[in-house]
Amino acid sequence: AHGPVVARTRDELRTARASLTGGDVAVVMTMGALHEGHATLIETARRKAAHVVVTIFLNPLQFGPREDLSRYPRTFDSDMEICRAAGVDLVFAPTPDVIYQDGDPGVRISAGPLGTVLEGQARPGHFDGMLTVVAKLLHLTGADSAYFGQKDAQQLLLIRRMVRDLDFPVDVVSVPTVREPDGLAMSSRNTYLTESDREVALCLSRALQAGAGAAGEGPSAIRRAARAVLVREPLALVDYLVLVHPSTLEDVPEWYRGEALLAVAGRVGTTRLIDNVPLLVG
Ligand code: PAJ
Repeated sequence: AHGPVVARTRDELRTARASLTGGDVAVVMTMGALHEGHATLIETARRKAAHVVVTIFLNPLQFGPREDLSRYPRTFDSDMEICRAAGVDLVFAPTPDVIYQDGDPGVRISAGPLGTVLEGQARPGHFDGMLTVVAKLLHLTGADSAYFGQKDAQQLLLIRRMVRDLDFPVDVVSVPTVREPDGLAMSSRNTYLTESDREVALCLSRALQAGAGAAGEGPSAIRRAARAVLVREPLALVDYLVLVHPSTLEDVPEWYRGEALLAVAGRVGTTRLIDNVPLLVG
């Protein structure tokens, strides 16, 4: 079988999209540098939908001026190989001028209050830029369903809210976080880590695991167990470690029982990493 059709322009996308007939279309949006996390999203979409479109677009609008846009890995050939192996029908890989024809858009999607906490506090404007491109890519691909990773829990929550609050006709599907055998959450940014950074970075997933292990003992036990792992690794500069309600992202009170999200962000060497685990506080 031949590989996916590649569309670079709006016209190419329109033509290729029009040939995906006789069944529903799923989209998996990425910034490239594909790894097994992305592949799992694609494979999940492949099982559920008749056609799969992957977008590869490094969105400048969601990067701050001091962030890693310029050093973000660009691996188009191996990305295409992953798409081919996973049975992708169509890859849309535009440049910024194709997406933002008149330069930075004056009109954008606002993430609102949920976009100002956690990652939004560390990365002002990030979620507005992310939602704006997700909205555009949903329109351009005309997808019936869209697949996103739990790894970026706040992103996933905001996309669900946008789709609900603004009545996007698309079904949002979430996929659990894919991890390395030692627990490190897969991320395109892991390529920045030196060997010793990578050892340090493991404390993040280990802290979440420790917290999840205390899930039955209530919020303060969960937070204590996770924090205990992080304080033993002074080379990880922790930005936040929180146990929050999964839809409000507010810290859960001590009496809380039910679904919660234990989320962590920190810097290791020059790399900022995030991870989270959903858990049932008992
Ligand atoms: P990117 O970081 O490339 O991630 C693309 C998709 O893969 C997202 O839905 C993300 O949550 C998912 N993903 C990444 N690592 C994962 C892992 N270890 N396990 C499961 N899923 C994982 O997220 C973005 O790009 C961008 O913000 C985007 C949505 C494409 C908009 O620009």
